[in-house]
Amino acid sequence: MGYLSPALNVMIAAARKAARALVRDFGELENLQVSLKGPADFVSNADTRTERILVSELSKVRSGYGFLVEESGVIEGPDKSHRFIIDPLDGTTNFLHAIPHFAISIGLEREGLMQSAVVYNPITDEMYTAERGHGAYLNDKRLRVSARKNLKDSVIATGLPFLGKEGHERSLAELGGVMAVTAGVRRFGAASLDLAYVAAGRFDAYWERGLGPWDVAAGLLLVKEAQGIATDLDGGSKMLDRGDILAANEPLHPQLLKLLKEAGRKTS
Ligand code: IPD
Ligand code: CA
Ligand code: CA
Repeated sequence: MGYLSPALNVMIAAARKAARALVRDFGELENLQVSLKGPADFVSNADTRTERILVSELSKVRSGYGFLVEESGVIEGPDKSHRFIIDPLDGTTNFLHAIPHFAISIGLEREGLMQSAVVYNPITDEMYTAERGHGAYLNDKRLRVSARKNLKDSVIATGLPFLGKEGHERSLAELGGVMAVTAGVRRFGAASLDLAYVAAGRFDAYWERGLGPWDVAAGLLLVKEAQGIATDLDGGSKMLDRGDILAANEPLHPQLLKLLKEAGRKTS
C-alpha cells in the first residue's frame, strides 16, 4: 500500500470489519444457490447492516464528519467540510445471485473534493485505495490506467438502466455505438469495481448513466490517481450531481466522449 493517511487507515479498517458479516452472508447464499430450497427465502439485510457497521466504525474515529450513504441518505455532522460517501454493498444483484463480484465503496470528500477512497471486494480480497496526490493502489501494487490508444483494441465496461428508467433508450443507443468499434463491452454489475478496473488497466474505459453519488465517489478518485480521466458525459466534473460518468485513459477519453454524444443524439 502506498501513502496511508490516518483517514485512509480508518476507512480500510472499517471496510474490513464490515466485510466480515457480508462474507458470512455470501457463504450462506452460495450454499442456498445449490440447495433444493434455493435462495428465494433468503432475506437480505446485508446492505443496511453493512452500512450500520461502517457508519458506526467511522463515527467513532471521525466523530464530526457527515455522511451521504445509500440506505440512510444524509447524516449531518458538525464538521461541514468533511463527509463520507458510502455504498455499503455495490453489486447487490450479483451478491444475491452468489456471483462474487461486489464491493464496499467509501469515499471521503473534503471541501467538495474527493480526498481518499476505498473500494473493497471482500471475496477476492482486493483492496483498492487512493489518496489525493499520492496515487492509487490495489493492495500493495501501484495502479496505472491502460496505455491503449485505439478503440478497436479496447475493452469497455458499462451498466444499463432498467427498461422504463430514465436514460434506458439512450444507453442502448450508446451501447450499439461502442460495440461497433471496440474489442468488446462488459457489464459486470458493480459500478465501483468498474471504476477500480479502469484504474487497474483491466478495462480501458467505463461509462454509465443513472448512477447515485455513492456508486462513483470512491472509484473516480481511483481513476484520477491512476492517471486516468473521469468526467460526466458532457466532459464536466458534475459526476456526483448528474449520476453519469465516463472514465478512461487520456487518449481514449475524448474519442469515447464524442462517440457517446453522437450515438445518444440519434435517440433525442
Ligand atoms: C448498482 C451497480 C450496478 C449499476 C447500477 C447501480 P447497487 O448498485 O453499481 O453496476 O449498473 O446502476 O445502482 O444497487 O448494486 O448498489
Ligand atoms: Ca451501487
Ligand atoms: Ca448498494
